[in-house]
Amino acid sequence: MSPSNIHKDFPILFSEQQIAERTAEIGRQIDADYAGKSVVLVGVLKGAAIFLADLARSITVDCTFDFVAVSSYGKGQKTSGAVKLIKDLDLPIEGKNIIVVEDILDTGLTLCFLRNLFEQHRPRSLRVAALLDKPSRRLEKIEADYVGFKIPNHFVVGYGMDYAERFRNVRDIRLMPPDYPEMH
Ligand code: XMP
Ligand code: MG
Repeated sequence: MSPSNIHKDFPILFSEQQIAERTAEIGRQIDADYAGKSVVLVGVLKGAAIFLADLARSITVDCTFDFVAVSSYGKGQKTSGAVKLIKDLDLPIEGKNIIVVEDILDTGLTLCFLRNLFEQHRPRSLRVAALLDKPSRRLEKIEADYVGFKIPNHFVVGYGMDYAERFRNVRDIRLMPPDYPEMH
């Protein structure tokens, strides 16, 4: 099988349609919660880029985007535990309603780091939307306000999520085989 469609062997966890339906539901919830207000969607690069694009188009309240980038994972499936800011916010968030948009809430280290960082800028409110939640892996006491799907402890790819930077453009969310070879 050629490298470009190797992911076809990975089992589908959530189809495009399931993701679209759940994203639309979260969008309606955000619309209700922020009716008459403005929100700033802060996407965590790179994994949340595709979720943010779809979520943003599922909401009708006034919204702007910003992005931050952090590093926590290396090339493979293991985390180093350390979170480092690689790209900061571009726009001021003081007095704004912030929704941090994440692909996966896993140990919680990334979101804790970002929440502490953003709270120093004194936003009016700060909530979190995570497409996926792996509650069994949590090391920090943090939950998302909007969760797409709760999943067991299994590494996933697609819909923005990667293994060694690959598979972000896969349209559904797939389970990564645990014996998949390390890629360089
Ligand atoms: P923490 O542990 O800080 O991790 O909550 C959040 C970040 O870890 C990445 N992550 C994954 N990425 N498949 C991925 O492609 C996964 O199964 C997975 N689990 C965690 C992700 O970047 C997330 O933002
Ligand atoms: Mg990643």
